[in-house]
Amino acid sequence: MLSGERVLLRAVERDDLRQLWEMDNDLEVEHRASDQPPKPVSLAQMEARFDTRAAQPDSDIVWFVIVVEDMVIGSCGLHHLDQYSQSCHLGIAIKRDRWGQGYGQDAVRTLLRYAFGPLNLRKVSLEVLADDARAVGAYLKAGFTEEGRFQAHTWHDGDYRDVQRMAIFRPSEPPRLRTG
Ligand SMILES: CC(C)(COP(=O)(O)OP(=O)(O)OC[C@H]1O[C@@H](n2cnc3c(N)ncnc32)[C@H](O)[C@@H]1OP(=O)(O)O)[C@@H](O)C(=O)NCCC(=O)NCCS
Repeated sequence: MLSGERVLLRAVERDDLRQLWEMDNDLEVEHRASDQPPKPVSLAQMEARFDTRAAQPDSDIVWFVIVVEDMVIGSCGLHHLDQYSQSCHLGIAIKRDRWGQGYGQDAVRTLLRYAFGPLNLRKVSLEVLADDARAVGAYLKAGFTEEGRFQAHTWHDGDYRDVQRMAIFRPSEPPRLRTG
């Protein structure tokens, strides 16, 4: 369990899937969170995927639910974990009715403490729609900076949009993890 200022991050349990299913079927969230074509996903599909991963966990991914006052409000994690280059990518999605309340940047800061501390990573990267001011704002507040841009790179809501590549390096003094 990882503690932020206002969020808790903990492993995904099977009982969480219904909450995540609602979010994963919100076109507006999925469109922004993923570069894959948004498609409906059934609870049964999510349960089957969960069971497969629980039996044989992927070694290059670590995923959490984001909890606020005992409610699951989203999920986040690190993927493409690469021990050779000591780098990874960060992903996050929060339910729409919880956007813009500071939970995203708190979850991202908490993930970074975990990445740079216990996981001993050196660099965390992500890609985001360049015109998504809320997402870019949350990442800037958490310390990410822009590394570059892919022009007209992804199809979103009727247009080809720029994608911004952002990254953050481990500070010289690795942050301390809060557990709880
Ligand atoms: C991206 C996401 C995780 C951000 O989390 P969040 O809780 O909504 O963001 P926060 O409230 O922590 O931070 C947003 C920041 O951007 C700023 N911001 C700038 N322009 C903004 C805008 N047009 N609307 C809202 N916030 C804006 C806010 O002011 C805030 O900073 P502040 O603390 O100084 O007020 C969340 O909105 C989400 O899940 N979106 C859908 C999925 C997604 O986009 N995932 C990321 C894909 S890379």
